[in-house]
Amino acid sequence: MEIKAIAGDIVKIETGAIIVNYFEDAKQPEGDAAAVDAAMSGVISQLVKQGDIKGKLNEITLLHSLGKLPSSRVVVTGLGKKTELTLDKVRGAVGETCRYLRQKGVDRIASGLQGAGVNGIKAEDSAQAITEGAILGLYAFRRHMTKKDNSYIEVKEFTVAGQNKKTTTEAAARAKAIAEAVNWARDMVNEPSNFMYPADLANAAKKTADDYGLKIEVLEKQQMASLGMGALLGVAQGSQQPPRFIIMTYKGKASDAIDMALVGKGITFDTGGISLKPSTDMHEMKTDMAGAASVIAALRVIAQLKPAINVIAIAPATENMPSGTAQKPGDVVKAMNGKTIEVLNTDAEGRLILADALSYARKMKAKNIIDIATLTGAVRAALGTFCTGVFTNNQALVDKLIASGKEVGERAWQFPMFEEYGEMIKSDIADIQNTGAKYAGAITAAKFLSEFVDDTPWVHMDIAGTSDTDKDKGYLVKGATGNPVRTLVNLVLKMAKE
Ligand code: BES
Ligand code: MN
Ligand code: ZN
Repeated sequence: MEIKAIAGDIVKIETGAIIVNYFEDAKQPEGDAAAVDAAMSGVISQLVKQGDIKGKLNEITLLHSLGKLPSSRVVVTGLGKKTELTLDKVRGAVGETCRYLRQKGVDRIASGLQGAGVNGIKAEDSAQAITEGAILGLYAFRRHMTKKDNSYIEVKEFTVAGQNKKTTTEAAARAKAIAEAVNWARDMVNEPSNFMYPADLANAAKKTADDYGLKIEVLEKQQMASLGMGALLGVAQGSQQPPRFIIMTYKGKASDAIDMALVGKGITFDTGGISLKPSTDMHEMKTDMAGAASVIAALRVIAQLKPAINVIAIAPATENMPSGTAQKPGDVVKAMNGKTIEVLNTDAEGRLILADALSYARKMKAKNIIDIATLTGAVRAALGTFCTGVFTNNQALVDKLIASGKEVGERAWQFPMFEEYGEMIKSDIADIQNTGAKYAGAITAAKFLSEFVDDTPWVHMDIAGTSDTDKDKGYLVKGATGNPVRTLVNLVLKMAKE
């Protein structure tokens, strides 16, 4: 989809449809909606009076301009109450509206700066959110469909109209870099596991590194063995597919010190291993590399926006399969940092591959570490699908991360890390074991990971609830969400400014 940014009046644009808005607590059409109302003999005012337009959030009213405007159609989108408006609601309303228009066969869409000036929303932030909403909301994963679907068309062009050409253009470009990378992360996560083996994930990362000028190194099994990555190799040994260990480097300033290491779980399929999962919903486990996809995609955006900071992405990638060579419950493995682990449940594999990836980040002397993982069903039980669980050994870092997420509409909630939870993963025969007890499964998993970062400031994000969604809503489309790429990018941009 081509993104155009212009300065000027939305009602003068020749296109398939223009988007204007109406607030629940408004008395009459305002801004662009008022201009449309005037040009179209008061139709919006009339519909408001009749109660057809109420302004409820995501309410969509389609009007045909019948030659009274250069655009064939106008959509009046409800934005809810002014006092409750957020940037994320704007992003969602535009996403929803664009999907509606696509379904009507409209392939050129334009929007003014929805919500700008309301509740402190700045013009350039609105321009960015609108563009992101359009690109994210129109996402579709169709590459395995062989039949042409006549109800589906590609939207060719989205125009954002602001007051200031320069800032609108910059905001739209930023939005495009971010949203297209999120959609690319969604593609990788939605891809069936037989199209996304560890080698495929590594190849995708390599291609991106080439395209965007990042350094990349991909370790194979032998190199992992020489580094002592026994925990990762223990998981990989059940699979016919060789594992990969992906390291991407972005250098944004002169020093060589790594300011931030983003570590993503890359299980390309999680059967559970010998501790086999039930077959119901097992197909969902093709998304168990969402953490890896998010860190790789975040680096792609960072390479484009070029903040003055050094960031690496680390993605350990393997399948978790049951087989004659698979590791068995009760086996003991040794991680790269020398700690021994009793593998009581082979389905708690994410923390095993992360043990080595975190040890690696530590060995690289990263100043901060954030890991992202679809780690536990327990976090989904606790928080549902609306926010990510976060865990830390450093309050300042997690505060910054939560604030960065809030700004982009990706919510996170912090869990406690009391000592007692750590006692739950003490092993009788090794340094630690890879499962806790019946309760607090998300926290005992985080406690396990904390054993591999020592005193480096670290946050663990458990995205098992937020990495995919079961329905279209706002700018989210059924399937992978691409969460938390936008949070990570925002955090890194902020840290670069400090
Ligand atoms: N990949 C799963 C966690 C998961 C569950 C992600 C549901 C997305 C949706 C993880 O590897 C896993 O199997 N975790 C186990 C841990 C348990 C064996 C301690 C779990 O949560 O049941
Ligand atoms: Mn598992
Ligand atoms: Zn898993």
